[in-house]
Amino acid sequence: MDKIIIQGGKPLNGIVKISGAKNSALPIMAAGLLAEGTSVLKNIPDLLDIRTLIKLLEGFGAKVQFNQDQITLNAHHITNTEAPYELVKTMRASVVVLGPLLARMGKARVSLPGGCAIGARPIDRHLKAFEAMGAEIKVEAGYVEATAKKLHGATIIFDDITVTGTENVMMAAVLAEGTTIIHNAAREPEVTDLAEYLIKMGAQITGAGTDTITIQGVERLQGAPHSVIPDRIEAGTYMMAFAMTGGTGQVTHVVPEHFASLTAKMREAGIEITESETEVFVKGPQKIKSVDVVTHPYPGFATDFQAQFMAMMAIADGTSTISENIFENRFMHVGEMLRMGADIRIEGKLAVVKGVSHLSGAPVMATDLRASASLILAGLVAEGETEISRVYHLDRGYEVLEKKLSQLGAQIWRV
Ligand code: EPU
Repeated sequence: MDKIIIQGGKPLNGIVKISGAKNSALPIMAAGLLAEGTSVLKNIPDLLDIRTLIKLLEGFGAKVQFNQDQITLNAHHITNTEAPYELVKTMRASVVVLGPLLARMGKARVSLPGGCAIGARPIDRHLKAFEAMGAEIKVEAGYVEATAKKLHGATIIFDDITVTGTENVMMAAVLAEGTTIIHNAAREPEVTDLAEYLIKMGAQITGAGTDTITIQGVERLQGAPHSVIPDRIEAGTYMMAFAMTGGTGQVTHVVPEHFASLTAKMREAGIEITESETEVFVKGPQKIKSVDVVTHPYPGFATDFQAQFMAMMAIADGTSTISENIFENRFMHVGEMLRMGADIRIEGKLAVVKGVSHLSGAPVMATDLRASASLILAGLVAEGETEISRVYHLDRGYEVLEKKLSQLGAQIWRV
């Protein structure tokens, strides 16, 4: 199995181009199932998760071509509506095929994703919403079986915000009969991006990006071209890499507004950040200051930045607290950071991070995508060599990570 080796201590400098957003590309590709014509999707990152979804879509009978960063997708003939365990278990986000299949075909059988390294992650809110729209839901032999002769509009009030839940309901509602209103909807930029693609396909949606989304069902959708938004989590990860290593860098092809809460926290920590419309410039200070963060749904501080931010606080001046509000088990990186010399204590949903003067390289194990990214950041500043195993997690979400980091001056390679 592959490992990543980092020889730490080199400041990163230069320009890094950000890829398309994984968490936008996945639901958008699934939404391609809703149309009978061809969609050309651009700015698609070449990631393991994208490859997994392509396999799933092909399994349904869709024709998918992936060239450079472009996907041509045609789901004219859907011949199968089952998403098998073998694929779903490698990628929880597979659940976003449920809404489109149910809306277009009136049925779907999708393996339940099960828990993962960051929490139990049930999909009860998705299922309750489909039921309210007239679907019959059965859970049998590890699979969700959803059927509906014709979905109808409904008023959905999510108990708590769910990103893929909002996306799934939106995708089901576009072909349902009548009007669906989603209250307490997720406001993530990826939800808005999906809505924009659906609108290009002929859907009638208003309010995406706010907490109330209204969808007026239509008879059919046609394929449409769309370019997915930049990956805000990848962007923020590189911003923290520049800052932590005391380097100076430019992060390009981004929408700075999408990670404004991170930028604000980084500035509070004494990091110099300037922005243009599509770029940010980061200058790492002599010493980063400790600041507290609490994760919240968008536009709050994203849980997908929590682990990387903790790596940064691990070498900051002073003590910070980091509260994780979204997932119940998203501190798996802490144990690995301790092995590198960090001083972190966990108290329930809170991590108390006491900055240390330096981290030291060690063999560590990646447990999920963002935890892996945090260990990369820790490795970049650590003295000596860090060896990160289980790097397939990184390949799920960071396009050509070693190449991008090497071009910025990091000593990083894969064995
Ligand atoms: N939840 C439920 N029931 C549900 C749905 C969610 O209890 O039916 C809980 C979850 O267990 C979690 C919380 O609600 O505790 C929020 O979950 P949400 O549904 O919003 O998360 P998600 O849609 O499964 C997406 C991203 C995650 C990101 C979260 C939060 C995709 C494909 N995934 O997951 O991204 O952390 O939103 O912003 O969009 C990642 O990229 O590394 C990643 C994990």
